[in-house]
Amino acid sequence: MYISSVSTWAFGLLVSTAHGTPAHPKPQSFSSKCTSFGSSLHIGSHPFNVTIAQYLPAASVINTTAEGSNVTCAGYNDAPPISVNLCRIGLTVKTEGEGEVILETWLPEEWNGRFLSAGNGGFAGCIQYQDIAYGVSYGFATVGTNNGHNGTSAGAFFHQPEVLRDFVWRALYTGVEVGKDITKQFYHKESCKSYYIGCSTGGRQGWKAAQAYPELFDGIIAGAPAIAWNGQLGWFGEMLTSLGTNTSATWLDAANWAAVQEEVMAQCDGLDGAVDGILEDTRKCRLDVTPLLCSSNGDKEGCLSQIQAETMEKVFSPFLVDGEVQHSGASHGYESALYEAFVGPLLEGWLQEWYAYVVYQDLSWTRANFSIDDVHAAFALNPYNVQTFDTDLSAFRDLGGKILHWHGQADQLLAVGNSDRYYDSVKATMNATSTELDEFYRYFRISGINHCFGGPGAGMLGQGGGVAAGNDPDDNMLMRIVAWVEEGAAPEFVRGTKFVNDTPSLGVEFTRRHCKHPAVNVYTGTGNGTDEAGWTCVEE
Ligand SMILES: *[C@@H]1O[C@H](CO)[C@@H](O)[C@H](O)[C@H]1NC(C)=O
Ligand SMILES: *[C@@H]1O[C@H](CO)[C@@H](O)[C@H](O)[C@H]1NC(C)=O
Ligand SMILES: *[C@@H]1O[C@H](CO)[C@@H](O)[C@H](O)[C@H]1NC(C)=O
Ligand SMILES: *[C@@H]1O[C@H](CO)[C@@H](O)[C@H](O)[C@H]1NC(C)=O
Ligand SMILES: *[C@@H]1O[C@H](CO)[C@@H](O)[C@H](O)[C@H]1NC(C)=O
Ligand SMILES: *[C@@H]1O[C@H](CO)[C@@H](O)[C@H](O)[C@H]1NC(C)=O
Ligand SMILES: *[C@@H]1O[C@H](CO)[C@@H](O)[C@H](O)[C@H]1NC(C)=O
Ligand SMILES: *[C@@H]1O[C@H](CO)[C@@H](O)[C@H](O)[C@H]1NC(C)=O
Repeated sequence: MYISSVSTWAFGLLVSTAHGTPAHPKPQSFSSKCTSFGSSLHIGSHPFNVTIAQYLPAASVINTTAEGSNVTCAGYNDAPPISVNLCRIGLTVKTEGEGEVILETWLPEEWNGRFLSAGNGGFAGCIQYQDIAYGVSYGFATVGTNNGHNGTSAGAFFHQPEVLRDFVWRALYTGVEVGKDITKQFYHKESCKSYYIGCSTGGRQGWKAAQAYPELFDGIIAGAPAIAWNGQLGWFGEMLTSLGTNTSATWLDAANWAAVQEEVMAQCDGLDGAVDGILEDTRKCRLDVTPLLCSSNGDKEGCLSQIQAETMEKVFSPFLVDGEVQHSGASHGYESALYEAFVGPLLEGWLQEWYAYVVYQDLSWTRANFSIDDVHAAFALNPYNVQTFDTDLSAFRDLGGKILHWHGQADQLLAVGNSDRYYDSVKATMNATSTELDEFYRYFRISGINHCFGGPGAGMLGQGGGVAAGNDPDDNMLMRIVAWVEEGAAPEFVRGTKFVNDTPSLGVEFTRRHCKHPAVNVYTGTGNGTDEAGWTCVEE
């Protein structure tokens, strides 16, 4: 049976049935406890039929596509082999109207007493099994949801306001409320603390919780968040329109972008003290475009015409709507990755789907329709406050919450500058110094990492996705947020690890401490920058 209305449980009214331990418990194996739990689950006071109650011993492999999950989710769903014995509970919860959330809670046999929620990515209605597997590998009871729909497209929101509401916040909320209840019923004990980990849309979900549902989590890791949502989507339209098509005079092709990146590195790589292909502070790079102009460099390969140079500069400039900055513009140092984003399916697809399915609910809308009026319309609609840019975090702070916000400085999809803008706006709204924010909100600009993963920098941070660099809180964000919440051991830096060929089995190539904003890394060593001790965090 489904819960018919969200109001019966979703706003803190959830009351779980008392499940006292029987006076003389029969010894029961974990696997039979798991399967029998499936037939005794209650949500609120209602018995609830699960769709999955499966014991998975360590080293199990699941194939969720074969189990019937949407084929477009294959890339998001890839689950690594399970590393611990666990009980997998799956169920479907009705929210409101057409809305329903598919969620899974993985309950490890060796429970660490804590609860963890994973997030989602892009528009994807796909359970991120990698992150759930990551959480249980450390002993967390971990929940993930399909974010209220199946498959990677925003088509699910077309004339479906409740499905859209689930995407903006309610799927995460539901997963946490139900997941905590399941955890309590399974172990006969409340989780001592509740955590969140997510990147991209998952980063936005983490911020949504901190801003609007501060009671959900004690500790949040919010990576590369898709906050400033309406500005981000507007910027995609503005940039793709400014660039035009590959026959436009304004277009920059792969060779142009590669030339820009090369010139950026020539002018800016050494500003941090190390010429290593990584910019430690992208904000310091003020590119002089002159050497790139065909007119001044004798038509060197990839050189720019005046009009191309103007488009290029627009990409790195703030995007204003009615005189207000709504997007920071891109940062320098990863221009070739940016080109791949401009010609790839993601930005174009997000733009097309958001405007056609959500803003106008009119399938005649295409990128060719785009104008600044569309951005106004998107801001006016701002469904369920998807913008996720509320800057008074006092409720979260006062509940004792901690948030670790990080963003790759080479993020080719969601520019780091929007995270900078958010941090600055919180500071202004809360009249706080950075030292005051440090009490509950710490922000890390991570050099040389693309969107959530990848890039030339030391980018393995324990940010989920399967691979951790190590279990020490210094090397692992998930371990760090626990240490911060439970022992007050707040992060002064985040150590990133770069593996040889990005393959952990090949060993560590180098590590680097990423500084807590507003400090920035400066190299004073005598090597090539791969020596961690050669770097110092300097506040300017
Ligand atoms: C659960 O499923 C069983 C068997 O299909 C059915 O008889 C029962 O009514 C269901 N219970 C609820 C609460 O939906
Ligand atoms: C998972 O199942 C799908 C559909 O049956 C199949 O195409 C795919 O190859 C399987 N993936 C793996 C890794 O076995
Ligand atoms: C989503 O997929 C599940 C199977 O994984 C299916 O039972 C459910 O009906 C689907 N929901 C929608 C709205 O298509
Ligand atoms: C799977 O997802 C795609 C993309 O979101 C969607 O178009 C399709 O309808 C979904 N398939 C099913 C069976 O729900
Ligand atoms: C230009 O774009 C068109 C349409 O997208 C594509 O078919 C063509 O291959 C592109 N040409 C180059 C040189 O990239
Ligand atoms: C998009 O442009 C086309 C062609 O000009 C027009 O027919 C259509 O109505 C426009 N759609 C929207 C939603 O503005
Ligand atoms: C910050 O200061 C302003 C002006 O003094 C005040 O109106 C506002 O309430 C303060 N905000 C917070 C979060 O304390
Ligand atoms: C940097 O220096 C280290 C230590 O000397 C060396 O092992 C490594 O190969 C060098 N890396 C590069 C890219 O030159």
